[in-house]
Amino acid sequence: MRVTVQPGVMHVGEARSAPGVRVDVHVRPGDAKRALRQEVLRGLCGSPKELSPRWLYDERGSQLFDDITRLPEYYPTRREREILLAHAGDVARLSGATTLIELGSGTSEKTRLLLDAMQEAGQLSRFVPFDVSEGFLRRAAASLAREYPGVTVHAVVGDFEHHLARLPEGGRRLVAFLGGTIGNLKPPERARFLAELSSGLRPGDGLLLGTDLIKDKERLYAAYNDSAGVTAEFNRNVLRVLNRELGGNFDPDAFEHFAPYDEHNAWVEMRLVSRRAQSVWLSTLRRRVEFAEGEVLRTEVSCKFQQPRVEQELAEAGLRLVAWWTDEAGDFALSLALKQ
Ligand code: SAH
Ligand code: TRP
Repeated sequence: MRVTVQPGVMHVGEARSAPGVRVDVHVRPGDAKRALRQEVLRGLCGSPKELSPRWLYDERGSQLFDDITRLPEYYPTRREREILLAHAGDVARLSGATTLIELGSGTSEKTRLLLDAMQEAGQLSRFVPFDVSEGFLRRAAASLAREYPGVTVHAVVGDFEHHLARLPEGGRRLVAFLGGTIGNLKPPERARFLAELSSGLRPGDGLLLGTDLIKDKERLYAAYNDSAGVTAEFNRNVLRVLNRELGGNFDPDAFEHFAPYDEHNAWVEMRLVSRRAQSVWLSTLRRRVEFAEGEVLRTEVSCKFQQPRVEQELAEAGLRLVAWWTDEAGDFALSLALKQ
């Protein structure tokens, strides 16, 4: 389903689009609710209990994630910014792109470094931020349109696991997928994602991919279990989403955030651990969900990588690695790959 909101047309409950910003909406609140309902029936009624990370990002969740990016323990955002500061010009030159598409764009804060470099090279004509969190996306798109007056801003509200076929065509395109968000997909989902993304690209189009790297357990643990408790609040926010969307009665405080590093899978696993035996009622689903004391609900994984694995996964999707950059400390990597 495709709804194009014309500039200046107000819809109930929507922020006004800034002049010149086009917004395509592929996920509307009703669709999201249906998808959530199905997922909860599958994910919460089985064992082990699991939800997809998409539901962490409602308005409050997106705000909490933005707070996470400024925590002293959460190094990925600063490291990725360091790499972009050093190499945004190389990205512009090697990709030759005129359109920048950003998946899971959030506030697009670091992305401005890329936009600036592309603009400086005289090649930027269009920016396409793509995110599932509609309010955040609309505000980010409006600010970007003001900051880059010569650039067409075309925002897409979509799910990158379902709507990649709807990426706008035209020009030479570079798809940026930053923040290590690709690591939030498990290997089979990641392979599907990369194959689908690649199948929509034309030869010469590019992918700029941010991946967090394997490092010592203590630093990984600290990054996902911060001392101020912001990550805990972010993780527990998914229970508030379930309460609101599915008429649930979760008590978020009855669950503890715990995010250990699993060396075997090379991923940090975001868990909510039930502090006691409890049962939760989801009135929209007319379902009761039982939790034993200590039972785990997995809300997300965050995979950590090394260069050969990234290169191989890209190659399997028909994307050839042309550059691999890390920060000075070797904590995080940006890869540039081109569609063959
Ligand atoms: N790119 C930003 C934000 C990363 S957080 C950064 O590097 O800091 C992950 C972002 O992906 C959030 O903005 C979230 O709303 C979005 N997101 C999560 N799951 C998504 C999905 N399935 N489809 C589209 N966007 C998604
Ligand atoms: N893409 C981010 C990451 O994997 C998402 C994230 C950071 C996250 N901290 C989190 C997700 C805590 C859930 C809980 O680093």
